[in-house]
Amino acid sequence: MLRTHTCGELNEKNIGDSVTLCGWVDTVRDHGGLVFIDLRDRYGKTQLVRSGSVTDYKSEDCIRVSGKVRARPKGTENSKIPTGSIEISVDTIETLSEARPLPFEVSKSRETNEELRIKYRYLDLRNPAVQKNIFVRHRVCQIIRRQFDKHGFIEVETPILTKSTPEGARDYLVPSRLNPGEFYALPQSPQLFKQILMVAGFDRYFQIAKCFRDEDLRSDRQPEFTQLDLEMSFLEEKDLFAIIEETCRAIWKEILGVELAPFARLTYQDALARYGSDKPDLRFGLEFQDVSELVKNCEFKVFRDALKKKEGAVIGFCVPEARATRKDIDALTEFVKGQGALGLAYFKMESGKLDSPIAKFIDEKTQRKLIELFRAENGGLLLFIADERQKTQKILGALRSEISKTPQGSHLIKPGLFHFAWVMDFPLFQWNGDEKRWDSEHHPFTSPNLEDWGKYKPTGELGRIRSRAYDLVLNGNEIASGSVRIHDEKLQKEIFDTLGLSEKDIRERFGFLLKAFEFGAPPHGGIALGLDRVLTILLGLDSIREVIAFPKNQKAADPMTEAPSPVNERQLKELGIKIR
Ligand code: AMO
Ligand code: AMP
Repeated sequence: MLRTHTCGELNEKNIGDSVTLCGWVDTVRDHGGLVFIDLRDRYGKTQLVRSGSVTDYKSEDCIRVSGKVRARPKGTENSKIPTGSIEISVDTIETLSEARPLPFEVSKSRETNEELRIKYRYLDLRNPAVQKNIFVRHRVCQIIRRQFDKHGFIEVETPILTKSTPEGARDYLVPSRLNPGEFYALPQSPQLFKQILMVAGFDRYFQIAKCFRDEDLRSDRQPEFTQLDLEMSFLEEKDLFAIIEETCRAIWKEILGVELAPFARLTYQDALARYGSDKPDLRFGLEFQDVSELVKNCEFKVFRDALKKKEGAVIGFCVPEARATRKDIDALTEFVKGQGALGLAYFKMESGKLDSPIAKFIDEKTQRKLIELFRAENGGLLLFIADERQKTQKILGALRSEISKTPQGSHLIKPGLFHFAWVMDFPLFQWNGDEKRWDSEHHPFTSPNLEDWGKYKPTGELGRIRSRAYDLVLNGNEIASGSVRIHDEKLQKEIFDTLGLSEKDIRERFGFLLKAFEFGAPPHGGIALGLDRVLTILLGLDSIREVIAFPKNQKAADPMTEAPSPVNERQLKELGIKIR
């Protein structure tokens, strides 16, 4: 090596040693005849001292330094860093490579415009605060590999040049030169291959897999992202839950030193009825109560009219210690209107009483019952929406989550909390109003709850059929999703029929999987965990771009490599492609 030590390891024990270090100039300080340089590498920073002038070296030059380790003068030690008690008295400095003027200061890269950060990602990644996330990602991958190996899972790479998979986003297509006019699709997940591995008798498979989806981007979405993907044969839901829980526990313990509380379990129906979301943030309460019965005879016309509608309901929740002003409530009302509500009914709890312009329409006995039901205390804010039940739940769910981000609700979430919950019993199908047909809620290989299938398939009440799909939710984010699959060829065909897929469609899209099922498919199931999302939450970051070494920007482009980019005429011709 060109160095004897790294920039993070010298301490009092090395005093008197002659050493050579390599790294980047972090900062240069001129103390009149004495120059202090902080030298930085992946492992830390070491202070260099030399007599002379500053002008020779500047930030981000890559240098090699030889000198003697000595104690820092009394009172100038820095107890915050491991090398803080020593410095290097420099004998020689060699410039390995000079840095041009920088587009931004490395230590402040996180405050820079994101486009610039991604364009100069190598500088952004020199920032220890950014680099750290990639190191944690590495460690998490090692924990995952250790865990799954221990439990007998085999890591298998599945193809990237493949056929469309059924996750429902738009595919990225790759033209085939040898088969003009034909295209590969990049996998939206390894779904079909992992099921085929079960047919092949692998029993337990996992992969840290790249997935590609051409979707509109958000802070928790990237066009290429990574899943911890797994599949097991002869399983029940609880077996799979146990392995995922153990893995999350190991990750949180090793990275943060945190012992996770037991994972909650709730049904999809329950999640909607109590929190208005299939990915409820359970770090705080604000649980819904249906007060339809209680208010059905009250004089408030809005409530009475809503309850006359089919499936009408009045549902609400109470924000403790909201201390909301008129202006706060107006903002919340605007918010729910933006979500499609007609209005927001509210009561402030003051001096043991409900205060609201509509309080006069609610008799005293009902008011007392409301106070009791919500355990409302002074300063609390009761919020209600009256409308068709599912719509009401959805809007209140959005409001519940919005409130946790406003001053009235910011006290609800204690920092450093991680709340995991399994959401189960998702509906098998979802009505697609635009296309007037039933779609799979998860994907078409998801097993129905067989009891429901037997009961509601014949009656045509398809919306009531539950599936054996499950999601894992962390702090209000969907971090994983999976299901027990169908392994019976006949049932699989019935599902395809119900989805309105033609024989031809089925053969073209999934024929190879159905073929495999003709040869003794084992019962199997699995799940995929969004690794980027898990890391983002683990590290308390705002965007998954922070945990991806080379992320894409909001336009799915990479400003560093300038991908995507035009290709030349010769390449297009070889592929038999003409740009329209
Ligand atoms: P699903 O499509 O729900 O399931 O994806 C699983 C998990 O992957 C993460 N995820 C994403 N992360 C970042 N950017 C994206 N664009 C993105 N899309 C999804 C989410 C999600 O929960 N094959 C099935 C799994 C199975 O049935 O086993 C699948 O891919 O955290
Ligand atoms: P209005 O009679 O429309 O002026 O409404 C009286 C109060 O009821 C206002 O505070 C509205 O925001 C609220 N409100 C109106 N429609 C609804 C509704 N569907 N659910 C809950 N509150 C509503």
